[in-house]
Amino acid sequence: MAHDSGHATSFLMTNKPLSTREREELLRTAEEAMKNAHAPYSKFRVGAAILLTNGKIFSGCNVENASYGMTNCAERTAIFSAVAELGPKMEIRAVAVTNDHGVPCAPCGACRQVIYEFGPDATIFFQGANGPKQAHITELLPEGFRLQ
Ligand code: THU
Repeated sequence: MAHDSGHATSFLMTNKPLSTREREELLRTAEEAMKNAHAPYSKFRVGAAILLTNGKIFSGCNVENASYGMTNCAERTAIFSAVAELGPKMEIRAVAVTNDHGVPCAPCGACRQVIYEFGPDATIFFQGANGPKQAHITELLPEGFRLQ
């Protein structure tokens, strides 16, 4: 079997870097969405905003539940909201994540897989261990799962 380059589809991807203005707007939108979080159990509010390839921005917050496992992360709230509004053809160009503790917070594993489904070339902005960080979705989720 031939060796996989590990990035075989990269030639199909554009991954145009966001301008400072685009990045700042995305982060501001995430901060704003964070205010709507329902986080009475963890007391950890998270906001997310996604920039689509069509230029639209959607946002989300974490929504917890007394049955803890039912919690929905901010990132997935934003993505599901975009799909509900625009349908499944929407494509994610970038994601920004913020939290109200100012601590490192990269998307969880489940959210990485959901981001990958709609944004295999997405850039993720989040708080890393040494300050603000950006990473390609495939750095956060190597070998993401796809059907077919
Ligand atoms: N959370 C998010 O919403 N996004 C992340 O990237 C990390 C974790 C939420 C889930 C839960 O409501 C709270 O943060 C504590 O885990």
